[in-house]
Amino acid sequence: MSENYKIKDINLAREGRNLIYWAEQHMPVLMKIRKDFEERKPLNGITIGCCLHVTKETAVLVKTLKAGGADVYLAGSNPLSTNDAVAAALAEDGIHVFAWRGLNEKEYYECIDSVIDASPRITMDDGGDLVTRLHTERRDKIGEVIAGTEETTTGVNRQRVMAEKGELEYPIIAVNDALTKHLFDNRYGTGQSTIDGILRSTSVLLAGKNFVVCGYGWCGRGLAMRARGMGANVIVTEVDPVKALEAVMDGFRVMPIREAAKIGDVFVTVTGNKHVIGKEAIDNIKDGAIIANAGHFDVEIDIPYLESKSIDWKEIRQNVKEYHLVDGRKLYLLADGRLVNLAAAEGHPSEVMDMSFSNQALVVEWLINNAEKLENKVYPVPEEIDRKVAKLKLETMGIEIDELTDEQKRYMESWKEGT
Ligand code: ADE
Repeated sequence: MSENYKIKDINLAREGRNLIYWAEQHMPVLMKIRKDFEERKPLNGITIGCCLHVTKETAVLVKTLKAGGADVYLAGSNPLSTNDAVAAALAEDGIHVFAWRGLNEKEYYECIDSVIDASPRITMDDGGDLVTRLHTERRDKIGEVIAGTEETTTGVNRQRVMAEKGELEYPIIAVNDALTKHLFDNRYGTGQSTIDGILRSTSVLLAGKNFVVCGYGWCGRGLAMRARGMGANVIVTEVDPVKALEAVMDGFRVMPIREAAKIGDVFVTVTGNKHVIGKEAIDNIKDGAIIANAGHFDVEIDIPYLESKSIDWKEIRQNVKEYHLVDGRKLYLLADGRLVNLAAAEGHPSEVMDMSFSNQALVVEWLINNAEKLENKVYPVPEEIDRKVAKLKLETMGIEIDELTDEQKRYMESWKEGT
């Protein structure tokens, strides 16, 4: 039996409860699911092992899983994204939480191991570290797992690689790929929360600045859109010609990072890849630039190279490190290159996490009933769940939509009616 919880300070629980209460007011779909789970207890007796950002929104999710009868173990999915007050409130509420802000790499994996020690039947991962751990150092427990879910693009990419190589040992549902997840969470969530993180840490004016968005996936699209809304001149860098073209036609300047480096004032990486701001960019970035990352891992900016080119560095504001380069330039790195929206702000707003986490909760119930029919592959969220989440979200927003008439349905099913 593993420890009950390991957190920073249980005395923060009161503050955490208020944060969770606030999130609950803004997550009506998940709260409806919680009410239904409370009555039916569809997750009775199931141990769920989670590796998620420990935020107020995650709290609403794990409390919903518990209301459904599950025994929930939770580790953080990033060393800087845990809200210690939320963790304390969850610990008081009987969630086995192993997370605190600022833990080191060894502690990070010890926390994941504490979750694995509980022999989860279902894993819920954000970024893939829990799944990877079960497939490598902790193979002793992999046989207990019937299935898993994955919250984010980076994790889904990793698990697809595992499946292609025949190395994935249980089925995973790619929650990230649900329409009610990535079209909203990745786009509007990352868009707003990344700007939020930059502003909370720097308080600079964005209007009139050259704002470089590296990567034009759903997160990059949302960020570019919101940065433009703040009056910035947005530049996009891309490696995919289709996405680059889309950025051009969305009205953004597109250029290679080596060119953007010379004129950008603020840089944000959102690619899921490594050293996107690499040696060449760092050598050319103009004096005074602010650099941040909103991708899952802290590898998008080549921080070891930045350090090797610096005489020294120091934290000059919370989440802002000033690097003094040997050539005299000063560069400002936010949140140590970790997810700026979670490390320097509160992550995506509750309203979008409402949809992402409603998918998670409904998928867990679906897996309990269907996991045995699945192969060791990455599967999409069942369409009926995706549509249900959209329908419930609209309902809670008080928005009605039209329905097809019988005549329209017949028309859609016929192929003879033309001009
Ligand atoms: N990922 C991005 N924002 C998040 C949030 N608010 N809670 C949990 N995971 C997140």
